[in-house]
Amino acid sequence: MRKERLDKVLANMGVGTRKEVKEMIKAGMVTINGNIVKAADFKVNVEEDEIICGGQMIRYREFVYLMMNKPHGMVSSTDDPRDSTVIELLDDFYKNFRPFPVGRLDKDTEGLLLITNDGKLAHDLLSPKKKVGKTYYATIDGALEEEHVEIFKKGILLEDGYTTLPAELKILSSGVISVAEITIQEGKYHQVKRMIGALGMRVSYLKRIRMGPISLDESLEPGQYRELTEEEITSLLNR
Ligand code: URA
Repeated sequence: MRKERLDKVLANMGVGTRKEVKEMIKAGMVTINGNIVKAADFKVNVEEDEIICGGQMIRYREFVYLMMNKPHGMVSSTDDPRDSTVIELLDDFYKNFRPFPVGRLDKDTEGLLLITNDGKLAHDLLSPKKKVGKTYYATIDGALEEEHVEIFKKGILLEDGYTTLPAELKILSSGVISVAEITIQEGKYHQVKRMIGALGMRVSYLKRIRMGPISLDESLEPGQYRELTEEEITSLLNR
């Protein structure tokens, strides 16, 4: 049974600031299982107690699941001494859940970033054993050839001696500048850039468009985010 302070629960569910909800509680606006409770530190069983505040039933939830179109120039961590973080873009309501990005995208990479406070899900999605596919749209300085598709399939020897797991290269266009979709099963540091680097070329633009069953919602502008739908959450949890 999980018990939490009443004022914390109400503030976390976005009813108001901690100060505001304390005043509401003091004013007798909050009932628990039908009884007025005036103590802000009253311990509620968040799974079972019925909390009503100002006539409105408060639905407690433990987890939040967001997808963001990560913008260029922000770091995908919860805090950073120098740079702005993607968490700073979230409304206070979501920050209350203490969410964190699931894995990292480079500062100059854009696209799909899942943000949650569900540690188990994050761990599962990042576990090398689970081999969750991540697909990137990449613009590359250099001419991609069909032979590169085979090289990707076999795994690519990186400069540090590590050979990547098999990956998929789908060439969308080839020329002085090429465009491709690249799917990898791991998340090594700068992995896509290093794989392309190992072929003697350079990634000039990188955007993640898919992670496991979740595709980037293309209606999200860089820096925008939304909650995952029930179907998206279910597809992640039941992978
Ligand atoms: N590979 C990279 O090189 N950078 C990213 O941000 C993600 C994958």
